[in-house]
Amino acid sequence: MKNISRSFEDYLKSYRRSIEQPEAFWEELGAEFRWRKKWDRVLDWDFMKPEVKWFVGGKLNITENCLDRHLETRGDQNAIIWEPNDPGEEPAYITYRELHSKVCQFANTLKEQGIKKGDRVCIYMPMVPELTVSVLACARIGAIHSVVFAGFSSRSLMERINDASCKMIITADGGYRGDKITGLKDIVDEALVDCPSIEKCIVLKRTGQQIEFVEGRDLWWDEAIEGKIDICEPEIMDSEDMLFILYTSGSTGKPKGMVHTCGGYMVYTAYTFLNAFQYKEGDIYWCTADVGWITGHSYIIYGPLAAGATSMMFEGVPSWPGMDRFWEVVDKHRVNIFYTAPTAIRALEKCDPALVERHDLSSLRVLGTVGEPINEEAWHWYHDMIGKGRCPIVDTYWQTETGGFMISPIAGITPTKPAFATLPMPGIVPAVMNEDGKEEIGNGVEGRLCIKFPWPSMARTIYGDHQRFHDTYFSGFPNKYFTGDGCRRDEEGYYRITGRVDDVIIVAGHNLGTAEIENAIDEHENVCETAVVGYPHDIKGNAVHAFVNCFHPPKDEDDLRQEILTLVSRIVGPIAKPERIQFVSGLPKTRSGKIMRRILRKIAEGNTGDLGDTSTLLNPEIVDEILGGNAL
Ligand code: WTA
Repeated sequence: MKNISRSFEDYLKSYRRSIEQPEAFWEELGAEFRWRKKWDRVLDWDFMKPEVKWFVGGKLNITENCLDRHLETRGDQNAIIWEPNDPGEEPAYITYRELHSKVCQFANTLKEQGIKKGDRVCIYMPMVPELTVSVLACARIGAIHSVVFAGFSSRSLMERINDASCKMIITADGGYRGDKITGLKDIVDEALVDCPSIEKCIVLKRTGQQIEFVEGRDLWWDEAIEGKIDICEPEIMDSEDMLFILYTSGSTGKPKGMVHTCGGYMVYTAYTFLNAFQYKEGDIYWCTADVGWITGHSYIIYGPLAAGATSMMFEGVPSWPGMDRFWEVVDKHRVNIFYTAPTAIRALEKCDPALVERHDLSSLRVLGTVGEPINEEAWHWYHDMIGKGRCPIVDTYWQTETGGFMISPIAGITPTKPAFATLPMPGIVPAVMNEDGKEEIGNGVEGRLCIKFPWPSMARTIYGDHQRFHDTYFSGFPNKYFTGDGCRRDEEGYYRITGRVDDVIIVAGHNLGTAEIENAIDEHENVCETAVVGYPHDIKGNAVHAFVNCFHPPKDEDDLRQEILTLVSRIVGPIAKPERIQFVSGLPKTRSGKIMRRILRKIAEGNTGDLGDTSTLLNPEIVDEILGGNAL
């Protein structure tokens, strides 16, 4: 592929060109793919509306690029290597030819079940190859997939299905994760009670557990695909047709369905995958994320497959059957590029070094990280213990909204600095803004991170709510995309992401909206009001501290805590459970009635020396009470 940097000079040259002649730069990359009709214009954009279109008028199908295009040159190469949860079970090796055939066969199944271009299909599955097959089969026929992470509760699933009026859901009887079995179909059944738009539910048999079957609605995967041919003409899509919806937490309770489109997303994910990781023919690449998150969409499925890579999918967890599961898998499959999250690194770093040393990690060449800022200690451990000082750390900063990497080193080429995402990818024009909305010019500055120019894989809207898309990302700093993150640009122009500056907390790499958790806790009959804030946590990066004000003093605080945890688990999902719950008799409020989260955040952080001026509060006395209270 063109514009792949092979030296730091190359990178600087590409970067300069991508800024000075963005259309020529992206046109060259677009031309590497298979289009049914070439675009009329490379880019139309207006950040005030906002409206962004790439490869305008171009026609394509992304699966033709991820599958058909490779059949001649690499039909027998593995597209997917699947490592099951249980090391005793056999891995699956799926070549490009086999994947193509499975995707076509399932695409024909979807069609037979009444799915057409533009229909929304929800996918709620464990990390099995059929998840990738489902995603690509939707894309093959122009259906819009909405993958919901299989750790979400039935309520969260129901809200996401209804927000997009999905017509079908694809799931499994159950899923394995470590020594646990999740009853996925039971959760789906509970959600579907309130999902009038769902007509069909396809169920993959994974665990073989007992499940309910609803006549006329549910059908088994194996029976549904039986007799379907494995040739399916791809639906011809406009470059700007919707490819998928993926929900991310926002600062109000309602999750945002980020919409990604076909053409630009394909070009950008494939290019950044090849460039940042310096993927070479024959490499085995392993991203440990779940396909339920954007990392899995862009860098397990679309980017690597569009680039013709071998991408590994892992069903399990890093801690089972032992804390060396990752290293065992790296050794077993001779993984060359390994991409994971700081929360996993921090958990593994605490273990006995013998767990690492007993495995041969010499195949590793590049190590990646994503999801939250990586602290220096974890960076060094990853670099020294796992990479043996030989493997560059690619700290990729990006978001569900951005579709692909924004700021990241190019492996082995960009000189790295611990805890820095380093420099922008070609085509990305960051701006650091101060609180007055002015851009900080030059280096050695700190502020809020915005992007000034469109890039091909950016989200185009929030499904069904373009106004919210505008208000959330394009209103704070006019004519710029606001990321919601703070950052520092050091003396050398390197970026260090300092974390969210809005009401999103990143816990173990998962974005959680404080409002979403507060709403869940407030549903308890004895809870009057709740404020949720994040505080630093050794392994999870951040953890949730909930300040809960009850109508009546709880009879037994531990019982109420347990009830609240169950409630959050049921409504949002187990990942959102607060680490600490503190009962209070009121929350600090401004005179206009707003909760002063700034103060609560400091208290939760244990940073109580400097609470700022509390005298203007409506109820300053409450601060002392909270300081004297305890959180368990
Ligand atoms: C954070 C994940 C620091 C950031 C791809 C962003 C990071 C949010 C990094 C998006 C990184 C992601 N360094 N912070 N390398 N990568 N973040 O939508 O706060 O799940 O806004 O996308 O994660 O999370 P999301």
